[in-house]
Amino acid sequence: MSELFNDIADRYLKRRQFLSAGATLAGIGLIGCGTRKDSSRPATLGSQPPGFAGMPHRLETFHSVAEGYRGEVLIRWGDSLGGQPPTRFPISSEEQRDRFGYNNDFIAYSPLDQQAANGTEHRASNNSQHGLLSINHENCYPHLMFPGFKNRFDAEGLTNDEQVKSSIYSVGHSVIEVEKINNQWRVIDNSPYQRRITPFTAIEITGPAAGSERLKTSKENTGRQVLGTLGNCAGGKTPWGTVLIAEENFSEFFGLDPAHIANIPDRELTNHRRFAVEEEGGFWARVDPRFDVTNEPHEMNRFGWMVEYNPYDPDSIPQKRTALGRFEHEGATLVCKEGQPVVAYSGDDAEHQYLYRFVSEKAYREGDHQHNQYLLESGTLYCAVFNEDGTGQWLPLLYGQGPLTAENGFYNQADVLIDTRLAAQLLGATKMDRPEDVETNPHTDRTYVALTKNKHKLSANAANPKVQNPAGHIVEILPPGVDGQRDHSQHYFSWDLLLLGGSDQTGAKPQGLYGGQLEEGGWFANPDNIAFDARGRLWIASDGCQSFGFADGLWCTATVGEERAKPRHFFSCPTGAELCGPEFTPDGKTLFAAVQHPATDYQSRYDQPSTRWPDFDAAIPPRPSIVAITKDNGGLIGD
Ligand code: FEO
Ligand code: CA
Ligand code: CA
Repeated sequence: MSELFNDIADRYLKRRQFLSAGATLAGIGLIGCGTRKDSSRPATLGSQPPGFAGMPHRLETFHSVAEGYRGEVLIRWGDSLGGQPPTRFPISSEEQRDRFGYNNDFIAYSPLDQQAANGTEHRASNNSQHGLLSINHENCYPHLMFPGFKNRFDAEGLTNDEQVKSSIYSVGHSVIEVEKINNQWRVIDNSPYQRRITPFTAIEITGPAAGSERLKTSKENTGRQVLGTLGNCAGGKTPWGTVLIAEENFSEFFGLDPAHIANIPDRELTNHRRFAVEEEGGFWARVDPRFDVTNEPHEMNRFGWMVEYNPYDPDSIPQKRTALGRFEHEGATLVCKEGQPVVAYSGDDAEHQYLYRFVSEKAYREGDHQHNQYLLESGTLYCAVFNEDGTGQWLPLLYGQGPLTAENGFYNQADVLIDTRLAAQLLGATKMDRPEDVETNPHTDRTYVALTKNKHKLSANAANPKVQNPAGHIVEILPPGVDGQRDHSQHYFSWDLLLLGGSDQTGAKPQGLYGGQLEEGGWFANPDNIAFDARGRLWIASDGCQSFGFADGLWCTATVGEERAKPRHFFSCPTGAELCGPEFTPDGKTLFAAVQHPATDYQSRYDQPSTRWPDFDAAIPPRPSIVAITKDNGGLIGD
C-alpha cells in the first residue's frame, strides 16, 4: 500500500515540476492520443488563489465561516416558502406538503430580471440581488423529524401513517423567491414562483425510453407519466433557464416483500438488486403500495433519471430525460457552446460505478430557448475509460453495438438506458470511487470529477489509485484543445489527478496528496459537491470529514498555477452535517450553501440531538437549512 502511494506521489510531483517548468502534458508523453495536440496555456487563466485566511478544522454545534464573511440562515426545514405562519413541530403531513422540505442538497440560483414583463427574459439576466432558489430535498430521517424513536431504523419501522405521509412530502424539491437588500438576503412572501415538487407531483417521461413496457405499471399504462421524483441529490442548470434535478438514492425508498418475490420478473429482480433494494427498506410502502417492488415491479424503473423543469413557470411539468441514462445520478452539469452539441457530465454515485457523458444530437443555439429546451431529449450517452497512461475514451452506449445486444438482454435502446449500469460494465468502463459532482472550470475548460471514497476495493486503477480509499480524490479531465477552448464532444481525453483527500502530514492516515504545503485546516476528505467561482477557483464541499475528527465544510483552491491543489478551509458545518449546494450568484458576491442532516452523529434523535442548529431552542429539532454567505465589505467571495 505505501509503495503504491509512494509511486503515485512520485509521479504526481514529477508531473507538477514539469508543468511549473512550462512543459506541456503532451510534450512529456503523459498524454496525447488522437489527432489534436494538447497544451497548457500560461497559467494565468483562472489561477487566482483564495485570498481569505483559512480556518483551522472545527467540530462544534454551530457553523462558522472564514474571517471577514458571514453566513446567515435563510430558510430551514419546515419553514413556509414565504408568507405563511411559523412551523409547528412535529410537522403534519398537510403542513409539510407546502413547506420547505428536509435534507436540502443542490441549490440553483436563477436571476429575476427587474424589467421583465413576463418570465421569458429572466433567463438572460445576471441580476444578483433578486432571483429564485431551486433546492433539492434528498431524503428524510424520521428519527430526527418525529419524537419518541431510538434511531433511524427504529423510526422507519414504527412511524404511523400520518408520519410516513409527512416523510414522503418532506422530500423532492422547493422553489423560493429571494431578494438581497443591504447585503442581507430574505425570502419573499407569497411569491407566484413558490413551488413544492414532491413524490406525488405529475412528471412526464421523455426521450428514447419513454413508453417502454418496462416503464409501465398497473396504474399507468403509457410508460410516459410518473408521480414524483426521489433521492434528489445534486443537479445542474441550463443556459435556457431550466433546472436539472438528479435522482440519486431512489432505491432507498423502495422495499421488497420476500414472501412475494416470485412476482418480480427475473430481469427486474437482477436490475433492482443492482441498486441494492433492501427487504427491510421501503417504509413508505405502508401508505403507498407502489413503493413495494413485489407489488409494482416496474415502478422503480421510473426513477434514477435526470429531471428537467422550468423554475420560472410554477405550472411547468417536470420532464424525466431518459437519454441521460438511469443510474444513481449525482447531478448533471452542462458545457454549452454555440453551434456545438450540448455535453452533460454525470457521475453514478456508488462504489465501483462509472462516469458518464451525454452528447446531444442537435447543436446548442444561444438565446434560442424554443430550440434548446428539447436538446436533452435526444443524443448519445457515453461511459468513461481511464487508461494508465493518462489518456481516456468515451464509449457510446448504443443498442446493437458491441455487447449491447439481445444476447445480453438488450432488446432496444430503452433497455440500454434503463440498465445503464450493466451496459457500461459490459463495455468495460473504468470502475470509480463513487463519482459525485462534476464541474468544468469556465476559464480553462478543464473538467473535474469529485470521487468521494471507496472502502470496499480489492484493486486499484490509475484514476482511482488507492486500494483503500476512505478519503476520496479529485480527477481532472482535459478534453482535446487548449485551455479555454477544449472540445468536450470529442471521444478521447487526457486526465490527471488534481489531489487526493486525506492529511497533508507525511505518513499520516489517510495520506493525502496536494500541490504543496498547506495552511492549518487545509486538508479535507470526501469531496462531494463542487463549484467554480467567477475567478476560476474550485470550491469543494465535503461529506465525511467527521470520521477523521472534524466537521464537514467547504474548501477552496486554485486549479492552475503555483497554487494549484492547495485548499484553504472556508466554512465549517455544525456537528453531524455535510455541506451541499455551493451556488454563487452571477456577481460572485453571494454563496448559497446547504447544510444537510445536522445532528446525525452521536446516536442523535429528535429528543436528544447532538446539536439543535440552527434554532438552538429546546422545543425545536435540528433543521437542515440553507445559509447565505456574503463578505462583510460586500466584495467577491474568495478574494
Ligand atoms: Fe447524495 Fe452522492 O450525494
Ligand atoms: Ca452529493
Ligand atoms: Ca453526499
